[in-house]
Amino acid sequence: MPERSETRLPVLEVSGISRRFYGQTACALDAVSFSVPKGEFLVISGANGSGKSVLMHLIAGLDEPTSGRIEFRGNRVGLVFQNPDAQILGDTPLEDVAFGPRNLGQNKKEASETARRALADAGLAGKENHPARSLSGGEKRRLAVAGIMAMDADLVIFDEPYANLDWPGVLQVNAVLSDLRASGKTVIVLTHELEKILARADRLLVLHAGRIVWQGKPVQAVTEAPLESWGIRNPLGAYRSVEDLVWENPE
Ligand SMILES: Nc1ncnc2c1ncn2[C@@H]1O[C@H](COP(=O)(O)OP(=O)(O)O)[C@@H](O)[C@H]1O
Ligand SMILES: [Mg+2]
Repeated sequence: MPERSETRLPVLEVSGISRRFYGQTACALDAVSFSVPKGEFLVISGANGSGKSVLMHLIAGLDEPTSGRIEFRGNRVGLVFQNPDAQILGDTPLEDVAFGPRNLGQNKKEASETARRALADAGLAGKENHPARSLSGGEKRRLAVAGIMAMDADLVIFDEPYANLDWPGVLQVNAVLSDLRASGKTVIVLTHELEKILARADRLLVLHAGRIVWQGKPVQAVTEAPLESWGIRNPLGAYRSVEDLVWENPE
């Protein structure tokens, strides 16, 4: 039954990939292997410089590994970049989101319909013709997600989706993440801000200096993993009084 075993193959298989940049002695990624089953909600964490963005570029085919292999069994990888401004190409959300389906061969009218639907699904109905640059940070990430939905990408990767977002902005991003998961997409979130999403993860994977140093369930992450030795704050570190409201080295 080849068809059946086919559907069980992971949507993404990363096998021993390394990436070394010219002139650097250390690898930005060092023999990284993992696979992602269809529909998984995977969080990949790690301190700044641990290799998260490099990994995203490799998975999306925007960069080539120095060695190793990446197999993606899907139609498209959708990316939400850390800086959502870098991703906006159109003057208005409608124009911006229509680019993708136009490139996939839809005519102007079809692409516009697809874009309207995707904008509504991403919670941007009514903003179709606003100046795209004046959207809030949370709305800009929603716009990026609408662009991905309009292209029907079945793997979506978010790079530091909470960067520079206030509390309502984080809620907006997480609402979109829940919708994507509910619609059966495979989702990878790259973030060091575990407190904002860990409970929703099927699995956490930790990168440290380009290597995978840990993977497991969220509950194991906060009870068993030495997160702080990899530069990630354990989100269960409690705030009990005003004296706790400062991040500094313990004396
Ligand atoms: N284009 C590049 N040229 C040289 N070094 C790079 C380049 N991109 C990333 N790096 C290096 O690779 C490492 C991992 O970077 P990155 O994936 O951006 O980290 P993260 O996203 O986890 O903060 C860092 O040491 C960074 O300086
Ligand atoms: Mg990064």
